This record gives sequence, C-alpha cells and structure tokens, in this order.
Amino acid sequence: MKAKIAVIAGDGIGPEIVAQAVEVLKKVAAEFGHGFTFDERPVGGAAYDATGDCLPAETLDACRRADAVLLGAVGGPKWDSLPAAQRPERRALLTLRRELGLFANLRPARTWPTLRGSSPLKDEIVAEGVDLLVVRELTGGLYFGEHVRAADGQSALDTMPYSVAEIERIARVAFAAARKRRGRVTCVDKANVLETSRLWRETVQRLQGTEASDIALDFMYVDNAAMQLVRSPSHFDVLLAENMFGDILSDEASQITGSIGMLPSASLREDGFGLYEPIHGSAPDIAGRGVANPLATILSAALLLRHSLGLEAESAAIERATGEVLASGELTPDLGGSATTSQVGAAVAKKVYGG
Ligand code: IPM
Ligand code: MG
Repeated sequence: MKAKIAVIAGDGIGPEIVAQAVEVLKKVAAEFGHGFTFDERPVGGAAYDATGDCLPAETLDACRRADAVLLGAVGGPKWDSLPAAQRPERRALLTLRRELGLFANLRPARTWPTLRGSSPLKDEIVAEGVDLLVVRELTGGLYFGEHVRAADGQSALDTMPYSVAEIERIARVAFAAARKRRGRVTCVDKANVLETSRLWRETVQRLQGTEASDIALDFMYVDNAAMQLVRSPSHFDVLLAENMFGDILSDEASQITGSIGMLPSASLREDGFGLYEPIHGSAPDIAGRGVANPLATILSAALLLRHSLGLEAESAAIERATGEVLASGELTPDLGGSATTSQVGAAVAKKVYGG
C-alpha cells in the first residue's frame, strides 16, 4: 500500500518523539512492503516563530492532502503570553481538530504486564489488568463554545453547547468500539447539574434502545467516574465523555498505566481519516535532553495504521514490539529506566517484523 503521512512534530519533545515513531513506521514499510511517504510541516510555537502563525495554511493543506496525520505536541512557555486565540493549543491543535472534522477521540489506556510496578495504584487494584478506552467528543462542548472576557476585565464566560446530532455521532463511535471489545459503555456526565449532560443522557439512552441493544450501557457522574477510575479501573470498558470531561479523565487514566508517556490517541472523522498524537504535552522541561518516552507516539503510529490505513497486522506488530521492549526493561526515566528516547525507538523498530 502507498500512503502519504503528514508529520507535524511541533514543540518541546515533539520532534524527538515523532522522529522515533517515523523510524518505526519506516521499519513497518520495509517489513511489510508498503510505500509510506512523510510530508513534514511546521506547527505550533515552532511554526509561529518561523511564519507568525501556529498553523500556517500550507501545514493545514498538507494535512488535508494526506491519508493521515502524525502529530507530536505543541506549546511551551515561550508562547504562553500570546493572545489566547493565537496560542499553539488553540490556534494549532483546536483548529486542526475543527478544520479536519476530527470529532471522535479514542484514548486507549491499558496496563502492560511488566509495567504494573510503575502504576501509582496498589498492585491489588491493577492486578486484574486494566484495559479501557476513553471515547472523547473532540469538536464541541466547552472547548468550542463562546470564550468571552467582559470589557472591564472583571468577569468571563465560557459556554458548553451540544446538539443531538453531535452526541449521536460520538455515541455511535463508542458503541462500535465497545462491540469490538467487551460490549460495555459508561457514559460520563454531570446530569445532576448540567443541561447539556441531560441532553447527553437522553440522547445516548435513546440511541442505545434503537441501535445498540447489544451494548450494556450505564451512566456515571464525572466526579464519581474520577473516583472509580482509581478505585476499580478494571470495571471500565468504554468511557464515553464530552470534550472537557474526556480530557480530564484520560490524563487520570494514563497514570493507571504507569506513565502519561504511554497513552496514544486517535482523532477521527467519519470516513476514517485521522490525526494521531500522544495525549501528553510538549514537556518543555525535558525537551532536548533525549529522555522523553517515545512510546505514546509510537503507539499512536500503530493506531494510525489500524484506523486510517486499515493495516491491522502492521499495527499489531508495533504493539507487540512495544510489549517486548517494555518487558526487556529498556525504558526511559519516567518508567524507571535509563534508556534514551532514540534507544527505545530503535529497540521497538528492531522488533517489528513482517508477516
Ligand atoms: C489534550 C490536551 C489538549 C486538550 C490541550 C493541549 C489543548 O490536553 O489533547 O488532551 O485539552 O485537548
Ligand atoms: Mg489533555
């Protein structure tokens, strides 16, 4: 298969971790006989410094022309003082999500057997293993409502709009994902307070009745979900959440696995086009030191192969190789090891073999 992958590495540790994921993808191409081309473009603060815009039009166009997009991370202290709408997080990340129509964010969090000791949770809590998927709505809600500061600067307002159509399309993604897993969806909301949450509940419940009676659906308030995630994480299969709740719960879920450096994500459109990125940020404090964990980005590349290119065996080969590297103890410092970013990347690439 021939595929064009837009590569937007961004800021901080972005370029270091993305370089490793690209090496792994090149190894996949060589092993399985594919022709991947990589179209590298600037994004985030790095693009701002070069062009005055965190998301230059050429970068967005290159993403549109690609079969899939691989992103590192954007942002850093250097650009924190830019006006809100020009900051890398809003201008680059949120614009990419909106412009590319990436409404469905999948964030799988699982324990790796050899990493159990890295989880901050007691062994008895993670002993059964955790394998959950956060399905986060990504182009609506609080992130894309109004953001207003009053003229006198003394008050501010953010709004959380949702429509039935937006809720239905993300609920369908959650139901479909659950069908391939253990068949359970927990819809997270704050229906005891928020009107949007009540709309979520009604809509998801109705849709389950008409389209997904094979799925076991329950509802949980977000505060309770945050508690249950550390009390009995094995209980969860698919967690369905609006944008902000999904953002918060996916960071929490990452810790169960031992390190935020382990969580990949896929942001998808209905037709399977997607943008793939680790859930962690640009980590400016460790940038350039060669200690960043590249595995979340490498696992994001595995999701890219699965969801946008339909290459299941290739995707599984990366995940298997990652498990082997974790078992070998060649780990970055966040996981208690002393290997460098490129050593871990090379170790994974070396263990990827074709069919
Ligand atoms: C994430 C990040 C972003 C988000 C930030 C950087 C805007 O935390 O992808 O989870 O909140 O969506
Ligand atoms: Mg986040």
